[in-house]
Amino acid sequence: MIFTVAIDGPAAAGKGTISRAVAAEFGFAHLDTGLLYRAVGALGGDPIAAARALSPDDLQRDDLRTLEAGQAASRVAVIPEVRAALLDFQRRFARAEGGAVLDGRDIGTVICPEAEVKLYVTASAEVRAHRRWLEVGGDAARVLAEVIERDARDMGRADAPLRPAEDATVIDTSTLGTADAIARACSLVRAAL
Ligand code: DC
Repeated sequence: MIFTVAIDGPAAAGKGTISRAVAAEFGFAHLDTGLLYRAVGALGGDPIAAARALSPDDLQRDDLRTLEAGQAASRVAVIPEVRAALLDFQRRFARAEGGAVLDGRDIGTVICPEAEVKLYVTASAEVRAHRRWLEVGGDAARVLAEVIERDARDMGRADAPLRPAEDATVIDTSTLGTADAIARACSLVRAAL
């Protein structure tokens, strides 16, 4: 069975948690596509060459979850050649036999517009910054500023900007708890199956 769940949205909206839960519930493979851009940013040097040579080992680095790695990822993600180099791998993953959940920024709009289920998971910048701050600590005002800066870059870039696909269902986790958000996502997938 070919079945793709596309989950897009800004940083710290809860995409990862929902994606992992949906993948576990239905036995689908899961790809956190942000990791690809984080690994390209962390490799340094020429980002286009890094994206073209990216290997599974590069995704295992333990420094990919930091705020700095997120900013570096967002900066390399504006480069069309970087995005192009990562496209085929993501498309093949999305349409591989057995079902797949991909989370990112452009899954429902560019990588897999034919996805059977498209979700756009979002929350206010303040709520997302607070969640990120609970994970990374430090100066809360700086964490909020970084969230706002990254949103602006991800939404404002010319190539594959972050935006909900026209046929995406929006899940706002500002007020919806984790269990309810997961239940909503799972019921949409069950209905489409
Ligand atoms: O989801 P994340 O925070 O790990 O993503 C890090 C950055 O990578 C994000 O700010 C923009 C970029 N990205 C992207 O451009 N397209 C994707 N599908 C996933 C991430």
